[in-house]
Amino acid sequence: VAFANNIKSCLAAGLLRDQVAIVTGGGTGIGKAITPELLHLGCNVVIASRKFDRLKSAAEELKASLPPTSQAQVTPIQCNIRKEEEVNNLVKSTLDVYGKINILVNNGGGQFLSPAEHISSKGWHAVIETNLMGTFYMCKVVYNSWMKKHGGSIVNITASFDQGIPNAAHSGAARAGVHNFTRTLALEWSSSGIRINCVAPGDGETGSAGTGKTAGKLQLLLQKRAATARVGKCCRVTLTEPQTGSTPMHTVGFMLQSCALRCVYSGMQSCENWGVSAFTYARVCFCFQISSLVCFLLSPAASYITGQVVKVDGGHSLYIQSYTIPDHDNWPEGIGDLSAVKRLKESFKVKL
Ligand code: ADE
Repeated sequence: VAFANNIKSCLAAGLLRDQVAIVTGGGTGIGKAITPELLHLGCNVVIASRKFDRLKSAAEELKASLPPTSQAQVTPIQCNIRKEEEVNNLVKSTLDVYGKINILVNNGGGQFLSPAEHISSKGWHAVIETNLMGTFYMCKVVYNSWMKKHGGSIVNITASFDQGIPNAAHSGAARAGVHNFTRTLALEWSSSGIRINCVAPGDGETGSAGTGKTAGKLQLLLQKRAATARVGKCCRVTLTEPQTGSTPMHTVGFMLQSCALRCVYSGMQSCENWGVSAFTYARVCFCFQISSLVCFLLSPAASYITGQVVKVDGGHSLYIQSYTIPDHDNWPEGIGDLSAVKRLKESFKVKL
């Protein structure tokens, strides 16, 4: 889904003419939406990610979509942002090709879903290295090799996880780290003429419920729930591993109700690799709703904005509760004994 009426951007065409941007993770998802908007604004864009083949075809697709009059170039460069040396090479190659870097969009990132107690040290490191270290490496080398002397603007794509994010503790920690890192850089680097901000999408596609029979049953339940939800539903379905005993249905129910803008799409999508033939697919936020903010923040229109984290979540974060804790009486024994509360709860239940 893109802007209506084939509009490429709400900003004026040519606003970023002859500028040069690096967009990490530029070949897919949000990155693939940010890049055409930057190109439309006249900016040359280097898209970078790990898989060169995918990147190359994304670049070809992007080039083909540009009007023949456009001067903007798009260049794919392979780079794993977890590796500082590859990041340094990416920035060097960009300077070799274009001679400058005005804009950096740290969009490359990712995570997998798991309850915190099952995240291995390797898995934790992988998520921190991609989302936090990758952003650090990129910012550092772009600053040292260009922006320190010439200024520029940076946007870090993170996620709106302020309330905690059950089943993605590693990602939540990394994103919070990027938010604070961004505020610090906004202060340390402002005297170089650099602005840096974060864009934090609230909800995108669903997570996964894993594979296997139990997951399959859960998926079917979720599908049913989403299918019967009222029209106007808002649904970010956070699926959790069923075998942990968590209660995804609560999450689903809450998500259905907690988007102020009630802007939702929900449906099914087949997935051949899984134990079920379909899974619940629901999204609130479309990529163009992210890219328009990113381009605004990168543009001179945002010249007095730095060190900010801007959420794009349809108002979802205004709802306080994000995760339903199952009822329990697991309080510590000894000093501060709460058995009286247990008795009160019991008597309350009886009255109900
Ligand atoms: N997007 C997701 N992970 C990435 C990585 N390690 N390097 C570059 N882009 C990415």
